[in-house]
Amino acid sequence: MKTLLVTGGAGFIGSCFIRTQIESYNIINLDALTYAGNLENLKPVENYPHYRFVKGDICDRKLLDKLFSENEIDAVINFAAETHVDRSIEDPETFLRTNVMGTGALLDICKKSWQLCPDDKYCREYKPSVKFVQVSTDEVYGELGKTGLFTEKSPLAPNSPYSASKASADLLASAYHHTFVLPVSITRCSNNYGPCQFPEKLIPLIINNSLNDKPLPLYGDGLQVRDWLHVEDHCDAIAVVLERGQPGEIYNIGGNCERANIEIVKTILHILDKPESLISYVKDRPGHDRRYAIDNTKIQAELGWQPKYLFENGIKETIKWYLENMEWMERVTSGEYALYYKSMYGK
Ligand code: NAD
Ligand code: DAU
Repeated sequence: MKTLLVTGGAGFIGSCFIRTQIESYNIINLDALTYAGNLENLKPVENYPHYRFVKGDICDRKLLDKLFSENEIDAVINFAAETHVDRSIEDPETFLRTNVMGTGALLDICKKSWQLCPDDKYCREYKPSVKFVQVSTDEVYGELGKTGLFTEKSPLAPNSPYSASKASADLLASAYHHTFVLPVSITRCSNNYGPCQFPEKLIPLIINNSLNDKPLPLYGDGLQVRDWLHVEDHCDAIAVVLERGQPGEIYNIGGNCERANIEIVKTILHILDKPESLISYVKDRPGHDRRYAIDNTKIQAELGWQPKYLFENGIKETIKWYLENMEWMERVTSGEYALYYKSMYGK
């Protein structure tokens, strides 16, 4: 089996990737366990002999050296990132450090460890079948008007410190492919939903507040549009890119599922049988992107991936998961979350 270094594997998407791919790979999970990292998400795999957790920072070059010298790592899937747009507005620097400098440190160690002649600056030969997958986001394309879709050729036009840091990481990853021929593929996915998502993001926040009969904060007019994809579909797509994606290529991933935020909130209220009077319109996010939507054609045509979940079923299953895992929610919303919530939404 190949050995993967999965970074950020204790977060929402990385943990889903590990849970769903553990039968196919040896996995080393490198995660700094920030507020968003949660080892509880990895309970189902923690006793697998070919799974190992390492607590550490992707910016720590000494640690990366040690990991690569002690293990034959065949591929890196870089999920590790600061991911919440609202937090990037409060504190951009943390995003620059992890998302840009951290990605740079990972690219450097892969180049050094995988090149067949690392002392030759013109070396273009790499160990066979190594791969770096940079997990990126549709937000690097900026916002769409009422029509149109993001394709892989859409220009980069990020609007938030978060998306600017992810776009910078993408450019760095592409440059390592162009200059050093490092086998890098980049994925750009739309909004994910599903189990184990930290409740600072729209869907789990609305589920949690609805269950507690708390106001549901909707930014601005609530008519911003996102393209929703179940997290397992995203992880399937990443596995397909890892196995069959071409070096130097970018793959958009999306759910063909555009919904306005107000529709999402009403759908959750309806499933939970809670009143719409809980909806509370609040001040808009600064620089709020109006609409995202992905054109999936390339990954479907070239790699044969397509989403399996229908949103209407996926959201019901997701809500069921949160209902059956109320203790998970209680644990992640104790401590730092209460302070964060107060600073974002006041009382
Ligand atoms: P998340 O915030 O749930 O998890 C991020 C994980 O990275 C956490 O476990 C955290 O502890 C870890 N981490 C943060 N800084 C680190 C560092 N310096 N070193 C090591 N680990 C560190 O994020 P997510 O929603 O699972 O997103 C994963 C990736 O997917 C990100 O790169 C994100 O940009 C991308 N993405 C997310 C979505 C989405 O809808 N959530 C959509 C498209 C792309
Ligand atoms: O598009 C992919 C991106 O999706 C990922 O790259 C990001 O990591 C991920 O966080 C997500 O970004 P968004 O900003 O779209 O997600 P968020 O859940 O924060 O917000 C979704 C929409 O809901 C957005 O239009 C803002 C709005 N919103 C969000 C929150 C938290 C509200 O109206 N109220 C809220 O309280």
